[in-house]
Amino acid sequence: MGKGQELYKKAKEIIPGGTMLLSKRPEQLLPDNWPSYYSKSKGCCVWDLDGKEYIDCSMMGIGTNTLGYANEVVDEAVMQIIREGNLTTLNCPEEVYLAEKLLQMNSWAGGVRYTRGGGEANSVCIRIARAFTGKDKVAICGYHGWHDWYVSVNLSENDALSGHLLPGIPTNGVPKGLRGSSIPFHYNNYEELLEIVDNNPDLGIIKMEVCRNFGPENNFLQKVRNLATERGIVLIFDECTSGFRETFGGLYLKYGVEPDMAVFSKTMGNGYAICAVVGRKDIMEAAQGSWISSTFWTERIGPTAALAALAEMERTKSWEIITEIGLNNKKRWQLLADKYGLEIEQWGIPALAGYTFKSKNHLAYKTYITQEMLKKGFLAGNSLYPCIAHTPEILDNYFYELDGIFAQIRDFEDGKDVMKVLEGPICQSGFKRLN
Ligand SMILES: Cc1ncc(COP(=O)(O)O)c(C=O)c1O
Repeated sequence: MGKGQELYKKAKEIIPGGTMLLSKRPEQLLPDNWPSYYSKSKGCCVWDLDGKEYIDCSMMGIGTNTLGYANEVVDEAVMQIIREGNLTTLNCPEEVYLAEKLLQMNSWAGGVRYTRGGGEANSVCIRIARAFTGKDKVAICGYHGWHDWYVSVNLSENDALSGHLLPGIPTNGVPKGLRGSSIPFHYNNYEELLEIVDNNPDLGIIKMEVCRNFGPENNFLQKVRNLATERGIVLIFDECTSGFRETFGGLYLKYGVEPDMAVFSKTMGNGYAICAVVGRKDIMEAAQGSWISSTFWTERIGPTAALAALAEMERTKSWEIITEIGLNNKKRWQLLADKYGLEIEQWGIPALAGYTFKSKNHLAYKTYITQEMLKKGFLAGNSLYPCIAHTPEILDNYFYELDGIFAQIRDFEDGKDVMKVLEGPICQSGFKRLN
């Protein structure tokens, strides 16, 4: 057992769930054998606690580092302000410079607030929009974090959120009084949303991801926009994960449909914690009559990192690079699947893409891929979030190694027992309580 697995065993004794983010639990990837912890990182490389180097062809910091790990330009900007002090009694000017930049990029917007986590930025949005409309109910589509207002969806119908990214989200600790306050609708199902709006006159907010796995059909986004405008509903696009991956800013720019508020997070600071809520001026003014205030939302690293990261994205046109890489990956996964007569379903925008084997053994195959790719020096599962450091040579090597593994999966489909070659348990999918 490597040092990482040893440490994770200890972590599970003293940190319930082992780590703060479900997607980083080794059980989600390669139970018992995932390296679990890193000592350093650079570009798309990560070194574990035993000093072993891996190329990250998986989730690149759960989608936070499109400019690569330890990006020199971003880190240098951060180092400088660290030397000058990260938090004082006075405010940091960078929060104003960043707001100016974000308003330039979102011309319909007139105000900005910051948080340090995507879930809390979503909660800030909901608080401001409720204060503005005076209405409590929210229609949601997508994943929007861990807070009560969102998880309450699962109080009404067991696991109603399972189609919105994560199955199995439990409601223990969420006040039962919130039942019915957030109502889910399915992407591309306009009729369903219309019915929800018709039946709930106290609904003042539609909050959704612009798209997660599949693009809009039948003018879906424009219809949602029109409905919100006609009924005086605040339309919020949660761009926590989609932002800066296909455009310089929101994915909404690609579809030409503007929201009333938008949330940006994940890659905006290239790995440093910074999230922004951007909104129409009249709506954002409602923050003045509400209580939204937190000490560490004023620290300096976040906005400094975002300013440097945005400049570097603009210079490199990183969203074009990672989308191009993602499109190629999608093609090459399909070519491999076809080569071995395997059926896969692909999902995600190119820069957040992945695939699932259409087989009852799909989770065992995902685990097998991770197990075998690790031996070849790759962190890999069934998705790859590209960064600008994923060179063609790296990706050629990734697909070369994956070829042999798909050949093995063909054998499993033909009757060879995948369980005999797995060196630990099958990975988990969705939320499960750990012992
Ligand atoms: C669309 C979306 N919203 C909100 C969140 C929550 O962000 P965080 O994990 O930073 O709280 C995520 C995280 O994956 C997300 O993808």
